[in-house]
Amino acid sequence: MADPVIEVRDLGRTFGTRAVLQGISFTVDKGETLIIMGGSGCGKSTLLRHIIGALKPSCGSIRIFGEDIGVMTPDEFDALRLRFGMNFQFGALLQSLTVGENVALPLIENSQVDPAIVDLVVQMKLELVGLTGFEHFKPSEISGGMRKRVGLARAVALDPELLFSDEPTSGLDPIMTAVIDQLTLDLTRKLDMTAVIVTHDMTSAFRIGTKIIMLGAGERAGTIIAEGTPDEIRNHPDPEVQQFIKGEPDGPVPLRLASGDYIGGLLDPGRRKHIDS
Ligand SMILES: Nc1ncnc2c1ncn2[C@@H]1O[C@H](COP(=O)(O)OP(=O)(O)O)[C@@H](O)[C@H]1O
Ligand SMILES: [Mg+2]
Repeated sequence: MADPVIEVRDLGRTFGTRAVLQGISFTVDKGETLIIMGGSGCGKSTLLRHIIGALKPSCGSIRIFGEDIGVMTPDEFDALRLRFGMNFQFGALLQSLTVGENVALPLIENSQVDPAIVDLVVQMKLELVGLTGFEHFKPSEISGGMRKRVGLARAVALDPELLFSDEPTSGLDPIMTAVIDQLTLDLTRKLDMTAVIVTHDMTSAFRIGTKIIMLGAGERAGTIIAEGTPDEIRNHPDPEVQQFIKGEPDGPVPLRLASGDYIGGLLDPGRRKHIDS
């Protein structure tokens, strides 16, 4: 079998004395869409930033297309980055530029792209995400769902082999979420991309993922507590996984108020004891 496109081995990261990621290992094969899921603050974005080389791990290794990114020279890494498409919250659209100019950014920044074809590529990518005719609008003049689609069009501007997305549907209603999910599926299939997508939206995760890893909360924060196909995750025996899937407030996930009181787990003293012990 071919080597995995991404191989993360025993990745750990501490900020100060706090371990945010611990013992993270997984692989992503070509054409797969890996979903990283888990509650707020469990380390999803931090993990993604390590995979794209924006953060350096405290221990462990990350191989992409078979190469260890930890030992790459800056030039080697820049060449690798050209094969990535990134759709991140911190890489939001530039408000002063039009929709078309935003999508053109990765093309203009990459000197290998002939300026004469930039417009053509922008038109193609906007068509892919159903935004033909919107190239002259400013981000402030279109809806939130449309802005997310522009972000996606920009991420795939260079026909990346690898797509990374951080919460591509956060803040969207369920219908617009379904639209973005369908678009992500179409793009990854049409362009034969491998994708890593962070989400805490279970419906999205099951819709677009071919493989899911879930990071834990509380004592198990920053570790993988479940890994598998969407079906395996759906039927996973871990109560924390089930609580997350079902969106139940009462369960093993410890939710503390500033006062120190739990806002979850209050109804079931048996489980509460389990958390406290
Ligand atoms: N640069 C940093 N310095 C210190 N702590 C950080 C840094 N980046 C993230 N963290 C901490 O790591 C934890 C995980 O954050 P994050 O990966 O953003 O969570 P998620 O994306 O799952 O909501 C949080 O508690 C956050 O405060
Ligand atoms: Mg995040």
